[in-house]
Amino acid sequence: MTAAQTGRLYLVGIGPGDPELMTCKAVRILEQCRVLAVPKAKEEGSSSALQIAAAMVDTTSKTVLELCFPMNKIRLGCTPDPEAAQGWQVAAQAVFEQLEQGHDVAFPTLGDPALYSTAFYLLTTLQELRPSVPVTVVPGITAMSACSAQIVNPLGLGDDVLTVVPAAFDDERLRDILLNSDAVVLMKMFRQLPRLISLLDELGLTGKAVLVERCGLPDQHIYSDIRAAIGCDLHYFSTLILRKKQISTATL
Ligand SMILES: C[S@@+](CC[C@H](N)C(=O)[O-])C[C@H]1O[C@@H](n2cnc3c(N)ncnc32)[C@H](O)[C@@H]1O
Repeated sequence: MTAAQTGRLYLVGIGPGDPELMTCKAVRILEQCRVLAVPKAKEEGSSSALQIAAAMVDTTSKTVLELCFPMNKIRLGCTPDPEAAQGWQVAAQAVFEQLEQGHDVAFPTLGDPALYSTAFYLLTTLQELRPSVPVTVVPGITAMSACSAQIVNPLGLGDDVLTVVPAAFDDERLRDILLNSDAVVLMKMFRQLPRLISLLDELGLTGKAVLVERCGLPDQHIYSDIRAAIGCDLHYFSTLILRKKQISTATL
């Protein structure tokens, strides 16, 4: 098979859930591709990315490959978790077979593909099967941008140091980040709230944090007092934004 017959893989950022935050380009690419490869966390579960995409694109006539990527911790530079690695292998093989048949494949992913997304694990595994796989990355609106917009508070201004991290980091690493940043975005924090509040209390920062759950979706919840979320069964789509400095015209 010649390279010209090989399909192209599109890693498509579809934004954090509000269909209106999907870019025109994302919609066009998803409409154009005959095959959608969609991520989900559990075999028996459904794909949030597919649900979001389906709000703007008719997915019913497409071949949909549901690919299971377990949400196990990944540490770069370490041997990957076997279950996660197995998921990448199975997914890459399924996508590879479609590309080899000359079909373009779109992989819709939450937010932006470059930010804590499975997209690049899939691509890297695929490149082991075919190093020259044609690929296009379509950027998307990140969850943190959407959350920042909802709470009408900027992420970075002037000489601010902004740090974006998964909340599963250990306390020592998080403490260091919280002390040395002007603003911090904590992603994947839905199961970490009590621990985070202890740490923020210790540093006197709890009052500066805002939690946005299911940003841009009909049941969005903003917790300006993050303690109010203790005991709530927070959704995976939850992000905590902490900004130490208040903006004031006197200091602008
Ligand atoms: C695997 S990361 C994906 C991040 C995504 N690639 C991005 O660019 O924002 C998943 C995390 O994104 C955040 N997230 C995604 N959608 C969200 C939403 N609608 N509201 C709040 N947080 C969201 C949550 O912190 C969630 O645990």
